[in-house]
Amino acid sequence: GKGLAVLTSGGDSQGMNAAVRAVVRMGIYLGCKVYFIREGYQGMVDGGDNIQDANWASVSSIIHRGGTVIGSARCADFRKREGRLKAAYNLVNRGITNLVVIGGDGSLTGANLFRLEWSSLLDELAQNGKITPEQKQKYGVLHIAGMVGSIDNDFCGTDMTIGTDSALHRIIEAIDAIVSTAYSHQRTFIMEVMGRHCGYLALVAGLCSEADYIFIPESPPKADWPQRLTQQMSQERSAGQRLNIIIVAEGAIDRDGKPITAEDVKKVVVEKLQQDTRITVLGHVQRGGNPSAFDRVLGCRMGAEAVLALMEATPDSVPCVVSLDGNQAIRVPLMECVERTKAVAQAMAEKNWELAVKLRGTS
Ligand code: F6P
Repeated sequence: GKGLAVLTSGGDSQGMNAAVRAVVRMGIYLGCKVYFIREGYQGMVDGGDNIQDANWASVSSIIHRGGTVIGSARCADFRKREGRLKAAYNLVNRGITNLVVIGGDGSLTGANLFRLEWSSLLDELAQNGKITPEQKQKYGVLHIAGMVGSIDNDFCGTDMTIGTDSALHRIIEAIDAIVSTAYSHQRTFIMEVMGRHCGYLALVAGLCSEADYIFIPESPPKADWPQRLTQQMSQERSAGQRLNIIIVAEGAIDRDGKPITAEDVKKVVVEKLQQDTRITVLGHVQRGGNPSAFDRVLGCRMGAEAVLALMEATPDSVPCVVSLDGNQAIRVPLMECVERTKAVAQAMAEKNWELAVKLRGTS
């Protein structure tokens, strides 16, 4: 059967295991020889025990587990050609020419580069006598399919990234817990949530929890935000509200691009309103714990579709990302998504927030 390998790369997220499981089982079902690559690209570069045979049973009882059982890493070696050369050797040596990468945009950009360089890497390996001319011929094309695993929902081309829904569950559970203690003491809580440069988690968590104020990078407030914030909060308190919840995305900024931190917000609330105020930084709790039903199903559907995409690939097909579009699993050219995601970052850097939101589309 065809050699097929799966790896998870970059920050982990809930639902990655469901995706790995689906890749392995769909691969076996379609007659492939399936491998795990452990520890992300680092495992592919280092080879050895990091590349292991996968079978039907080896992915039993992982669908409910958070994180990724095959490990993940942010890998510096794979950014260098030398690292990619080693990785190519390790794949060819095992007859792997189909690769499923589950990760964020950096990981998928790396996958694309690997695919583009593949034949020149094989030329070099053949010249150095590391692989035979027959191997070079037989394994001459590398097919890649990507899936986006990230809690941030910051990738263009898919409505939801694998892990976002579970992270939202973690966040709203935490806010609900905070609300009860805030109520007792008539306190204001400022919650910092993850998301890197994307405000999706903060925005949706704010909507779900009746937050009073939300700071997100895509909608930087005007310079008078301290007055607006305090005015709204004092109005709410005079109307009988016993607590306030403010959500600050970790990437929140003002209109000059300067970060707005939970500390900055606390200072305003304490100085202007003298409210008893606390900060809660949710941190990696958001990335942990069991995946939600949505992320399990998402991982399963994406994983199965990724293998189908690889099996249908021809030497000319471009690498794809398996995405969610409405309720459909679709395939989008990987580079199109990566370019659009880069354009969002560019628009944000140029302070063109409207364009950034438009480019990002439904997510
Ligand atoms: O991309 C996922 C994410 O959790 C971001 O929300 C956050 O900014 C970052 O990763 C944290 O990275 P690390 O796990 O390396 O601290």
